[in-house]
Amino acid sequence: MSEPAIPTPELTEQDGSKADDLAEILQGLRQSPKVLSPKFFYDEVGSQLFEKITELPEYYLTRTELSIMRKHIGEIVNLIGPHASLIEFGSGSSMKTRILLEHLDRLAAYVPVDISRDHLVAAAEALALEFPHIEVLPVAADFTQPFDLPQPGVMPLRNIVYFPGSTIGNFSPGAAQALLEVMYQEAKEGGALLIGVDLKKDKTILERAYNDGAGVTARFNLNMLRRLNNEFSANFDLSRFEHRAVYQESPGRIEMHLVSTCSQTVRVAGKDFHFEENDFIRTECSHKYTLEEFAEMARRAGFVVHTVWIDPERLFSVQYCLRE
Ligand code: TRP
Repeated sequence: MSEPAIPTPELTEQDGSKADDLAEILQGLRQSPKVLSPKFFYDEVGSQLFEKITELPEYYLTRTELSIMRKHIGEIVNLIGPHASLIEFGSGSSMKTRILLEHLDRLAAYVPVDISRDHLVAAAEALALEFPHIEVLPVAADFTQPFDLPQPGVMPLRNIVYFPGSTIGNFSPGAAQALLEVMYQEAKEGGALLIGVDLKKDKTILERAYNDGAGVTARFNLNMLRRLNNEFSANFDLSRFEHRAVYQESPGRIEMHLVSTCSQTVRVAGKDFHFEENDFIRTECSHKYTLEEFAEMARRAGFVVHTVWIDPERLFSVQYCLRE
């Protein structure tokens, strides 16, 4: 008996080189303070831990963004219109995307773009099964650089770049600006950007969100060292580093650190890196914006903020920005 054919979305893959990654890691560890790129969080384990973070009681971002999307989905659908191509940058969590896929009018295609290939393929397959009438065209790429869009069978009326989760905050203001410029390019003429942006607020709420009681964020942060051990010949002792998250008022960002609990030397690909006690590696920043700050950054990339939706507690915003 033959099994029914399961549609496997065809993957577009961009070559990322392991040598480049290693060079980037070594360069980051030579800086003071030491830094590692958050892109190294998201291997299979990291992506799964991240999904867990989004369900934590302290982590208000995902829950709040979802409630905003649910409440205003009718208005969002009307603004986007029919036959759009939805291009999601960093398509980690698919819950928010599901709301859009369920409601958008005759979508031409859904194009999830993610650096974590395995996670991407699994998510794209699940969505293709769930939404058989939508063409799912995954792209495995580092979306900070321009990439080629796959050609849907149906010609889209407009491209909607979707960037939820306040992932924009994980880029420095300069890099965020550059990323918005890539989005401007990928949105093409007549396109738009639908983006989730976390807002500036009380420091205790912010720090709690990144220092959860169950220690999931700590595991997520430390997973980066495990990954360096496994994939880049490093010998980090995970019991000698601790997770810490602090809000810096002046740049307006949460910083995630891995703090060395003793004086130690770590080898990475044959190179030595020394840590004094309390020296740290900065693994991620999460910038928070006021509405004015974000509008200004979007404007410089060529977008004009058209509609902003905010929850009653003013924790989070979802913004629809038109390509000028
Ligand atoms: N962009 C979200 C944020 O900054 C999600 C996120 C990215 C995150 N990396 C994280 C959340 C690490 C917690 C820990 O909040």
